[in-house]
Amino acid sequence: MATPKTFHVKSFGCQMNVYDGERMAEAMAASGYASVASERDADVVVLNTCHIREKATEKVYSDIGRLRKGKPNQMIAVAGCVAQAEGAEIVRRAKVDVVVGPQAYHNLPRLVADAARGAPALDTNMPLLSKFGALPARRRVGPSAFLTVQEGCDKFCTYCVVPYTRGAEVSRPFDAIVEEARALVGAGAQEITLLGQNVNAWSDGDRDLGALIRVLDRVPGLSRIRYTTSHPNDMTEGLIDAHRDVESLMPFLHLPVQSGNDRILRAMNRSHTRDSYLRIIDRVRAARPDIALSGDFIVGFPGETEAEFADTLSLVDEVAHASAFSFKYSPRAGTPAATMPDQIAPEVMTERLARLQERLARDQAAFNRATVGKRCEVLVERTGKLPGQMLGKSPWLQSVLLENGPPVGTLVEVEITAAGPNSLTGVPALSAAA
Ligand code: 5AD
Ligand code: SF4
Repeated sequence: MATPKTFHVKSFGCQMNVYDGERMAEAMAASGYASVASERDADVVVLNTCHIREKATEKVYSDIGRLRKGKPNQMIAVAGCVAQAEGAEIVRRAKVDVVVGPQAYHNLPRLVADAARGAPALDTNMPLLSKFGALPARRRVGPSAFLTVQEGCDKFCTYCVVPYTRGAEVSRPFDAIVEEARALVGAGAQEITLLGQNVNAWSDGDRDLGALIRVLDRVPGLSRIRYTTSHPNDMTEGLIDAHRDVESLMPFLHLPVQSGNDRILRAMNRSHTRDSYLRIIDRVRAARPDIALSGDFIVGFPGETEAEFADTLSLVDEVAHASAFSFKYSPRAGTPAATMPDQIAPEVMTERLARLQERLARDQAAFNRATVGKRCEVLVERTGKLPGQMLGKSPWLQSVLLENGPPVGTLVEVEITAAGPNSLTGVPALSAAA
């Protein structure tokens, strides 16, 4: 294979993968490879993959097939959670050139060089956190940037592959996080979203995530802080208090619940109940009354009866989430739920998901409507489709379209003038007043 010079990283799945993809690109650039915008033009395509549901995994194989057909000599590197879960199996099944797991991607440039020489190029080792020390510093980012503070999961929900693909819960050290936050601000970020599979389990000594947020609040130039994804059992008092006290902590909480029924929650090994989730929501709302709540839901977990599913619907009615993700249960090899009896028929899952999504869409539309007429700050993140149009985010993480908006990177006071199911429209407050 000729020595590759250009690369393109394509990330699937969660925000952690987006972050990892950016850092892979930085590592490749630091080793002299040039990033290209289109995968067709790249000597190396890096597929940064997701394993969470079967559909996501199958997408990887169809993508590899498509790439091979289009450009047979292109080097293909598989990174991310499918790489970790399937390892050498991917090389056998799809003849890719490089396989690199989520804890080993600091070695990607070397693996690409190895593969170009025809040497085996597979690294799915899981050394704890060593990649962060080995990655180049952050250089240029957009107004809203991700920062991984915690990785892995020890919760072992019975449906979930994450504890196997991302390993045990590990927190990055406090100093390294603050240093990266400063570097991100120096590189153009005004908003940082702290990432972790269980981000609110982050700790260093006696500091919890709330304490980290209080310190980041004082980083000059950092206007907004967010974090995702959280587990109900790690919603500490300190973190809830931070929602009350820290102005730069945005009023948004993504707190997956999965089901509203206690028997299903037990079978999922969620280690919280419907009631304990609702009580946490009450406390968070007491601390920050305007908070937008988001959640994840799974329908059709093995054994879920119609009455148990109805408990999920009633929980949705009770909480009125501002946004949510909802999924059909997808059996994953190696997880306990995959071999549980009473797997639910696909058509039952389809029908339950439709009913759930109808209510979630109703609540999201109502939340969006309630912001019409309000003023809020919008961080402008990118240009829209038409000339003059700009797109940004409200404090509640809604997309806001601004006609004749200010440039990318502006934090602008906006009056919300209209709401659709998935986004808002606004005008900068100065022109609204004029
Ligand atoms: N099937 C369906 N959804 C799943 N999730 C995790 N594992 C599965 C699975 N096997 C969902 C959960 C989780 C989100 C990231 O993905 O709702 O919170
Ligand atoms: Fe998966 Fe449960 Fe861990 Fe979330 S908390 S990553 S759903 S095992």
